[in-house]
Amino acid sequence: MQIDTLILGAGAAGMMCAAHCAGRTLVIDHARAPGEKIRISGGGRCNFTNLYAAPESFLSANPHFCKSALGRYTQWDFIALVEAHGIAWHEKTLGQLFCDTSAKDIVAMLRAEVTRAGADLWLQTSLVGLTHDGSAYQAELEREGKRHSVTARNIVLATGGKSIPKMGATGLAYDIARQFGLHVTQTRAGLVPFTFPEGRFADLAGVALPVRATAGGTAFDEAMLFTHRGLSGPAMLQISSYWQEGTPITVDLDPSGTLYDTLRAQRSQSGRHFLTTELARHLPARLIAALPHQTGAALTGNLADQSDAALSQLCNQLRHWQLTPGGTEGYRTAEVTLGGIDTDGISSKTMEARTQPGLYVIGEAVDVTGWLGGYNFQWAWASGAAAGRAITARTSGA
Ligand code: FDA
Repeated sequence: MQIDTLILGAGAAGMMCAAHCAGRTLVIDHARAPGEKIRISGGGRCNFTNLYAAPESFLSANPHFCKSALGRYTQWDFIALVEAHGIAWHEKTLGQLFCDTSAKDIVAMLRAEVTRAGADLWLQTSLVGLTHDGSAYQAELEREGKRHSVTARNIVLATGGKSIPKMGATGLAYDIARQFGLHVTQTRAGLVPFTFPEGRFADLAGVALPVRATAGGTAFDEAMLFTHRGLSGPAMLQISSYWQEGTPITVDLDPSGTLYDTLRAQRSQSGRHFLTTELARHLPARLIAALPHQTGAALTGNLADQSDAALSQLCNQLRHWQLTPGGTEGYRTAEVTLGGIDTDGISSKTMEARTQPGLYVIGEAVDVTGWLGGYNFQWAWASGAAAGRAITARTSGA
């Protein structure tokens, strides 16, 4: 079979690319259904983009790489597409946009766009071999026990990263990239809960509160959740992408920075109140009970017993709680893979490999990773659209 473009992976980026590709396009995926991560994302409502998506919200060895694609297919373009398909949406918090009804609406929308572009979609299909003869790619596919030989001018790597192997994540894009001489940077789990030894926070499991989490010079003000295995919640997932193994994270339990003044004011009005009673107005009671043991903070006596220096020391301890995680839950639960195919070898405008004509790399497989909050899908849409448009320009110009 002779086609123009073979897209490996019918996830967010692969389907978006197919929707923008002219010519004969085939998208393959080894899963039973396309867009499985879209379906389960955002608690089943898909946080499909972010109003504030901008290059500063992405991690990469080359922070400039994502600018071109993000600038040419923006969150507003995706919102327009969602609206054209009549999908109702809402902003939840921090610019994060979700479907009102179901993430399945986004999968259905992309499937419809793939069909509209005239592309074929083969599910439960595997790639068993790939070569390039100097002008075209020869792919050997296996579908329902049958072999198919496909000749394609372009091949698009859209099989994503390594996160959640149970959902079918594989390292195929990295393997093919290496086969054609591209470098792959070291990968690790991102947007992932932290683990601590000996069930350090097991007694606090389920407690959540707003914090500021800092690591690697970056801070996020969001909620933190104690779990049986360690720390989770948006603040921890965000900061996990900036954390280096063996280093501490700093948790500020008073992110508004008002506790010291509040406690001093309360001392003059209600000096006979226990310090712990006053703190319980600001922090969860279970956490207060655990603080002396967890942070070394002294929480005895009435408010009137506390000098300014004692209150200042206490607030300082609560604002600079240093914790060194034992590790993370890894790819088993990570939302994304940090690192990936080195952007040095790829054109930021077209997503085509510089030294391997017709080979395109998009989505999470590339060394571009977004924050939590719809940024990673925006990268998938933008990089997919960039490659699709470049292929269309090439196909129509031929
Ligand atoms: P994606 O993983 O979407 O697609 C890859 C496709 O390739 C899959 O269909 C897979 O089956 C296929 N494939 C893999 N290996 C193959 C092989 N060897 N042969 C054939 N096919 C193969 N982001 C966000 O912005 N908002 C959100 O709400 C969420 N929520 C979220 C929840 C959870 C639980 C996870 C794990 C992740 C998220 N994300 C997210 C991240 C987001 O899902 C992710 O960044 C994008 O799906 C990446 O899009 P890609 O198309 O690159 O990969």
